[in-house]
Amino acid sequence: MTISNKMKNFLEQGSWIRRMFEDGIELKKKYGAENVYDLSLGNPIFSPPDELYDELRKLIDNPDKSAHRYMPNAGLDQTRSKVADFLTKTTNHHFELSNVLMTGGAGGALNVILKAILDPDDEVIMFTPFFPEYFFYTDNHAGISQIVDSDDKFIPDLDSFNKKINNKTKAVIINSPNNPSGVVYSEKFLIKMSEILNNYEKKFNREIFVISDEPYRRIVFDGLDCPNILDYYRNTIVASSFSKDLAIPGERIGYVALSPKINNQNLLMDGIVFANRILGFVNAPAFMQRAVSNILFSSVDVEEYLIRRNYLCDELEKLGYEFEKPQGAFYLFPKSPIEDDVKFTNLLKENKVLVVPGSGFGKKGYFRISFCVDWPSIEGSIEGFKKTIELIK
Ligand SMILES: Cc1ncc(COP(=O)(O)O)c(C=O)c1O
Repeated sequence: MTISNKMKNFLEQGSWIRRMFEDGIELKKKYGAENVYDLSLGNPIFSPPDELYDELRKLIDNPDKSAHRYMPNAGLDQTRSKVADFLTKTTNHHFELSNVLMTGGAGGALNVILKAILDPDDEVIMFTPFFPEYFFYTDNHAGISQIVDSDDKFIPDLDSFNKKINNKTKAVIINSPNNPSGVVYSEKFLIKMSEILNNYEKKFNREIFVISDEPYRRIVFDGLDCPNILDYYRNTIVASSFSKDLAIPGERIGYVALSPKINNQNLLMDGIVFANRILGFVNAPAFMQRAVSNILFSSVDVEEYLIRRNYLCDELEKLGYEFEKPQGAFYLFPKSPIEDDVKFTNLLKENKVLVVPGSGFGKKGYFRISFCVDWPSIEGSIEGFKKTIELIK
C-alpha cells in the first residue's frame, strides 16, 4: 500500500482517539453497548435546538431552486452579514460582512487561515494541552508547530512563550474554553500574552496573528464571562463553528472572522477566500448557511453540561482523583493517578470506561473525559473509575 511515510507516521501519532473508538466498538460487541461507558469523543449527544428544525422546515416548505448552486467562495452575503451582526452584538467590536467568511466548521476555518498566512517553515505556536489537529493542520500548510507547555492549572507558561517567538513565528493558536482542560483564559493572561506579542511585532515590524479557536465560547459555567482576545490584541483572527453550541458537528458549518482592527484586511480576506477555494472546500454547505443564519443566538441547553460536570467532579473527587474544575467546554482533564497516562487509560478500559490519554493532547500524565454523553454513560462510568483507582492504591 503506497501512502507516504509522513502519513504513516501521522496515522500513528494521531491514533489515540481513533484507537479508543475502535476499542470501544470491540468492547461493546463483547459486553453489550449498555455496559461500556464511552467518554472518549467530543461528539455531543444532545439534539440541536428546536429552532434549527423550524428553520430547516421553512427552507423545505419554500424551496428556492437556485439555492443549491455554487456561490461566492466566502459564502452567502445574507449569512455573512448576520454573523457580522451577531459578532457586533456579542463583542465590543463592529464587524461587517467583509470581515466574515463561512467555512466547513472550525476545522475548515483553521485550515483556510493557516493556508493564507503561512510560508514554508513559518512557525505556529500552540499551548498544551491542545486540540491534536492543530499540529496536523499546521503541517498541511508547510508550517512548523512550536509547542509551549502550561502549568498544573493549564495556564500557558509565558516565559517559555516569550523565548519561543522568533522571526519565523507567524501565528499563535489559542483555544478558550479549552479542549481538553475546560480552562477559560483570564483577562490577565490574555493581556500579558498580547503585550509579549506586541513587543515582537514591533521588533520584527510585521504581524504575528493570534488565531482564536473558539467553538466552545458559549459553553461556560457558573456565570463566568469568557474574556475575548479581540479586546486586547489587534491582529486577531477568530475561527469558530456551530458544531458544539448547536450540536451539529456533522453538518460542517462555521466561520472565520477577522478583527476589524487588522490592517490590510482586504488582502488577508482575499487570501482566506482563495484558500477556501483551492483547498477544495469551495464554499461552506449552502443549506446549512441558510439554516443557521436566523438562529445565531440559539444554543443547546448548557445546564445539561453543567449537571454532568458537577456530578462527575463530585464523584471523582470522592474517589480521590485530582483535577481542575472545568470552567467551560464539556471535558474534564484529571491527573492520571500513575505517571503513565496511557497505561492508566488502558486500565480504565479493562473496567469498561473509555477516555483519551493526555499524551494525545501534548500533556502526559493526564487523561480526558468527555461529558457530552448520555446520562447512563456518566453514571455507569463511576464504578469503573472506582475499581481502577483502587487497583493502583
Ligand atoms: C478545540 C477544537 N477546535 C476545533 C474543533 C473542530 O470543530 P469543527 O467540528 O467545528 O470543525 C474541535 C472539535 O472537537 C475542537 O475541540
